[in-house]
Amino acid sequence: MKNFNFQAPTSIFFGEGQINKLSRLLKEHGNNVLLTYGGGSIKKNGVYDAIYQELNNEFNVVELSGVEPNPRLDTVIKGAQLCRENNIDVILAVGGGSTIDCAKAVAAARFYDGNPWDFTANSGLVKEALPIVSILTIAATGSEMNGGSVITNLETKEKLSFGSRFVIPKASILDPTYTFSVPSYQTMAGSADILSHLFENYFNKTNDTMVQDGIAEGLMRTVYHYTPIVLKDPSNYEARANLMWASSLALNGLTGSGKDGSWSCHGMEHELSAYYDITHGIGLAIITPRWMAHVLSDETAGKFAEFGRRVFDLPKESSKIMAEKAIKLTYDSFKAWGIPMTLGEVGIDDSLLEEMAEQAVAHRPAGSVPFAPLAKEDVLTIFKASLEEMTF
Ligand code: NZQ
Ligand code: ZN
Repeated sequence: MKNFNFQAPTSIFFGEGQINKLSRLLKEHGNNVLLTYGGGSIKKNGVYDAIYQELNNEFNVVELSGVEPNPRLDTVIKGAQLCRENNIDVILAVGGGSTIDCAKAVAAARFYDGNPWDFTANSGLVKEALPIVSILTIAATGSEMNGGSVITNLETKEKLSFGSRFVIPKASILDPTYTFSVPSYQTMAGSADILSHLFENYFNKTNDTMVQDGIAEGLMRTVYHYTPIVLKDPSNYEARANLMWASSLALNGLTGSGKDGSWSCHGMEHELSAYYDITHGIGLAIITPRWMAHVLSDETAGKFAEFGRRVFDLPKESSKIMAEKAIKLTYDSFKAWGIPMTLGEVGIDDSLLEEMAEQAVAHRPAGSVPFAPLAKEDVLTIFKASLEEMTF
């Protein structure tokens, strides 16, 4: 295990009705609130009204609405401007990863004179940020409990991230009933994203990390168990609750601390979303089994076999055979949920694969240690394989 510093400072209020803590949580930071939200789902499912009822006219609220899935730099700049003009004390981010990520960038941009896109090249430029309180409405990214933010720059066709402890939400309200209205497509995308966060840390070169891997396996089993239940019964509280808590724990440092890593599938998927604006979790589901198959070797088979045994209860056989079965099960599970499993089904053809492969390699963070090396040609092979159904 590598040395690490673990911090998970977000105060979590989990369960039905926890919105009754909202006024108190905001008051700790001030009265001027920037409320950020997405395209309107919170108006349809009652969360928006519940917020205003709880705030009870005691706050000055300015709204930044219409935050896009794959949030855009322009929206961040607009939000920072609103914060300056209205002397905002605290940001209330209501939604999923897109809204919370946008709020993080706004919170930091409020105090930055240059273009907030600079953060993606150098997170160290974030020296302070407005406090953020989040209300999560979809189980997926873990943004509600971490310091990551992913922003899209339409001009340069780039989707890049920054990370800073200054933008970790101070508090997050996780009410599983708020996720009852998440449509099945976004539900499966969210589950695929949670799994991918676990995979990115689990398939890793650092040995002897039984604590992290054991937690990850438990969370993976949870996602595989509850996702089909939620897809059949979207208002199943226990299933939604388990997925929601899994999303936060999958990317709050618990399973990634003490390990190397290079987040290979996320790097490739962010190019797909940057060029084609697709749903993050769907892109990950398409790429992941192809990546697994591509990097399967004598060296990596043992870890895939372990995954198969501990997560899918595969019987003991040779590592190679177990690994192949585990990869097939990964693919088949996504397909059984209903995820479109080829690039063509999400509107991506072969015309830009080469360019995206080049960018995926160019955007890889310096010093990352991949589970298996991926040159441009490898990424291109994985993209091309994602055009066709997988055969086993
Ligand atoms: O915009 P609205 O109308 O709210 O609708 C959203 C959106 O269309 C809808 N939705 C959310 N909650 C709902 C709901 N619809 C009905 N009922 C509800 N309760 O779902 C759609 C997707 O929302 P979005 O916030 O985009 O989803 P997600 O949480 O998956 O966030 C994806 C973004 O987060 C980034 C992704 O790259 C992507 O940009 N990521 C952020 C990470 C982080 N900060 O740590 C890590 C991840 O790996 C990821 O890269
Ligand atoms: Zn992700």
